[in-house]
Amino acid sequence: MTAKVIDGKAFAARVRSQVAGHVARLKEESGLTPGLAVVLVGEDPASQVYVRNKHSSTLEVGMASFEHRLPAETTEAELLALIGRLNADPAVHGILVQLPLPRHLDSDLVINSINPAKDVDGFHISNVGLLGTGQKAMVPCTPLGCLMMLRDQHGSLAGLDAVVVGRSNIVGKPMAQLLLGDSCTVTIAHSRTRDLAEVCRRADILVAAVGRPEMILGDWVKPGATVIDVGINRITRDGKPRLVGDVHYASAAAVAGAITPVPGGVGPMTIACLLANTLTACCRAHGLAEPEGLTA
Ligand code: GUN
Repeated sequence: MTAKVIDGKAFAARVRSQVAGHVARLKEESGLTPGLAVVLVGEDPASQVYVRNKHSSTLEVGMASFEHRLPAETTEAELLALIGRLNADPAVHGILVQLPLPRHLDSDLVINSINPAKDVDGFHISNVGLLGTGQKAMVPCTPLGCLMMLRDQHGSLAGLDAVVVGRSNIVGKPMAQLLLGDSCTVTIAHSRTRDLAEVCRRADILVAAVGRPEMILGDWVKPGATVIDVGINRITRDGKPRLVGDVHYASAAAVAGAITPVPGGVGPMTIACLLANTLTACCRAHGLAEPEGLTA
């Protein structure tokens, strides 16, 4: 079998276009413009690229974008004061503090100072608890994107065996909660799991989020399974820089039913879901119906 390639770039473009349609209607019918505030502390080059992309994508779907770039020496009190102002600002529906923060700032404290209703990253402890108890939450963007692709591929996920490899707070754990919410039988595996290959072979849905280049091999994949590769690893091969996932793509694609490539799979979905979450936060803040198909 040769797997269907799930085109994340095209999928993300569809999500962004749906978001843009909702934003246009919101403006026309309610006079509302969803607004996203992104806070960057310091000059980390990768973070600067992410923040720039978020800014342009936000404007492209017709939302307001508020960028706050603060020097690396910013104190915790200064950052908390800014977040307090954004929490109180009715034009701001979503707040994202770009991670990692400089070492002298306590990320947990900072994230938990965001109004949970504006926490479009879904990292606030209240949203983690809401998701874990099956209540309406803001959901982390990358797992939300994976869920959208899986629903598109399978329709109902009920009863499927899902294995999530990786237990991070940003991807592995929320991904497992979302799959459980869609009635999968969920296993969370990780680098210390015994017989990891055997565990993976049970999966109808295999989500790889361990951060180890090409660790998951084709003979770990059940024939016909859907493989979602969240990994983005920079390696050098034959003297050239390359971007690879956590899955050995060629061998897995020969066995799987469907697979996300790297790049061009899960990656583009993250910003699309950030925009979807900002729209959702705006609708919830104003007691309006949530956009269909763009939430968990
Ligand atoms: N840095 C890398 N990925 C992310 C993300 O999804 N959210 C935030 N806030 N920072 C990040």
